[in-house]
Amino acid sequence: MRKIAFTNAKGGVAKTTTCVNVGAGLALAGYRTLLVDCDTQGQITKSLGIRAGEGLADLVQGDAGLDDVQIEARENLFVISGGGTLSGVKRMISRRDMRSELVLSEALEDLRGYDFVLLDTAPSWDVLSVNCLFYVDEILIPVSMEVLALQGIGDFLGRVNEVQQYREGLLIKGIIPTFYDGRVKKSAEIMEQLERHFPDALWPAVRYNTRLSEAPGFGQHIFEYARRSNGAADYARLAQRLAKGR
Ligand SMILES: Nc1ncnc2c1ncn2[C@@H]1O[C@H](COP(=O)(O)OP(=O)(O)O)[C@@H](O)[C@H]1O
Ligand SMILES: [Mg+2]
Repeated sequence: MRKIAFTNAKGGVAKTTTCVNVGAGLALAGYRTLLVDCDTQGQITKSLGIRAGEGLADLVQGDAGLDDVQIEARENLFVISGGGTLSGVKRMISRRDMRSELVLSEALEDLRGYDFVLLDTAPSWDVLSVNCLFYVDEILIPVSMEVLALQGIGDFLGRVNEVQQYREGLLIKGIIPTFYDGRVKKSAEIMEQLERHFPDALWPAVRYNTRLSEAPGFGQHIFEYARRSNGAADYARLAQRLAKGR
């Protein structure tokens, strides 16, 4: 079971979009995949057009069991929902004196039967984000083609490095350029810098594609909403790359 977080302290860089569509790509390729929504915004269920029900907060707080919270969204694609109730989880984690970084890991400990568990994380650096990094073995960092996103990534990697001191084996699997637009000079410049700074970790880019922003409004992933779009092609490629191995 591979456990992977899509994470970056910056918002609007396509963490949720990437989690949902890479997950959908893996599910379509036959991999049993679970999406865990660790954001108080709770966008994963909406993106897939399903009702939230009991979710991650209920599980962590002991009000629901693992069997209650896994929702089958599509064939091979399951969701544990997030949302506003996660604020209570953060308070609960903050109150714990011991092993507070392992609250999420303990709640998900008995999870079985998936090829991939993908975490969508909040655009912040808080106790819940830290818990996510203590649960997963790999992280993928979406970075949008903005100067500020590029500057933020250095800070973010510094914090990940701190966690890595306590969690050997936490792997920065890749950096995924998002909102790439080949016609715009800014995109090319930022890609160049990413290539220079992260020659080994840079993954293929996701191009700017309005279809990707429309799909969640219809409760569909990109392979349902626009199978022949650039967005579908890019996310199929990323899913393949991820499936290829560690
Ligand atoms: N490649 C893309 N092209 C166009 N719009 C995109 C693309 N990726 C994401 N979006 C849109 O950009 C917004 C931010 O994406 P989102 O995945 O919610 O970011 P995050 O989870 O990092 O905050 C959303 O409205 C989403 O639909
Ligand atoms: Mg998000």
